[in-house]
Amino acid sequence: MKPINVGLLGIGTVGGGTFNVLKRNEEEITRRAGRPIRITTVADKNLELARSVTGGAVKLTDDAFAVVADPEIDIVVELIGGYGVARELVLKAIENGKHVVTANKALLAVHGNEIFAAAQKKGVMVAFEAAVAGGIPIIKALREGLTANRIQWLAGIINGTTNFILSEMRDKGLPFAEVLKQAQALGYAEADPTFDIEGVDAAHKATIMSAIAFGIPMQFDKAHVEGITSLESADITYAEQLGYRIKLLGIARRRDNGVELRVHPTLIPAKRLIANVEGAMNAVLVQGDAVGATLYYGKGAGAEPTASAVIADLVDVTRLHTADPEHRVPHLAFQPDQVRDVAV
Ligand code: HSE
Repeated sequence: MKPINVGLLGIGTVGGGTFNVLKRNEEEITRRAGRPIRITTVADKNLELARSVTGGAVKLTDDAFAVVADPEIDIVVELIGGYGVARELVLKAIENGKHVVTANKALLAVHGNEIFAAAQKKGVMVAFEAAVAGGIPIIKALREGLTANRIQWLAGIINGTTNFILSEMRDKGLPFAEVLKQAQALGYAEADPTFDIEGVDAAHKATIMSAIAFGIPMQFDKAHVEGITSLESADITYAEQLGYRIKLLGIARRRDNGVELRVHPTLIPAKRLIANVEGAMNAVLVQGDAVGATLYYGKGAGAEPTASAVIADLVDVTRLHTADPEHRVPHLAFQPDQVRDVAV
């Protein structure tokens, strides 16, 4: 069957992981998608890196705008990150009738309404499983697995860097700054780790989950955001002595007058499952009216866990693209132009 052609923007950690997993599991992925998924072009500023990752098997360019304009490309995978050029590229790709797969939580939380509205108008898909909690299929769980439920609340450890810092401070008594350096060296932290430690990255992810869970547009600007920078080792020790762990949680809760959206350090009884999520792992609890409490756990960052989510989206989009557009399963679960307030 005719392959679906993918243009990959950015071949850093996640891009490299996506390339490698697609190649390694090609047979299964092709079977599940119903046709081959072929990365035909990779755009990256570092052509040397792109060549070494791909082995020269695909077209390489340093001009990402040429990729989103290429009539041969069906799906654009945006792994550049940030709000600036990534927004322009995604909107251009949509304008050119391409589906988009992105891991860019900042972009979606801040500009998602504009992007989804443009995609709906154009009749293309924007898929973003990799934007929240890395390899945990939380978007699919909220959108599909729990679709019968009225979601009451969700709460999650959705930033690996801060969870790693809190775990190491508690277990090894190391100072904050030293553990942050380790998290950067291990590749967990964002390019600017301020987003991790100030709770902004977790708020981006909570914003995206709240849109899916409650059918509201992205409202990042209404979130209460508090990180872990004001915590001291003594806070962690005292919490421990009282039988609690401190975790940075992203929380979204249905209220009578809207949806509450917040990120802050939280005391959790030490015997709770979520209190025992350690290191860079992520976990999300979701309470639905029919299903009750459910818990999703796994790696929230890293090359192949995130690639796992990117490729799941590629398979979804390929299946839906191949189906009659009239009969596509809705992939969004909220209306970007239907504003309902978020109460903090
Ligand atoms: N900096 C993020 C984290 C990466 O630490 O969770 C994955 O989104």
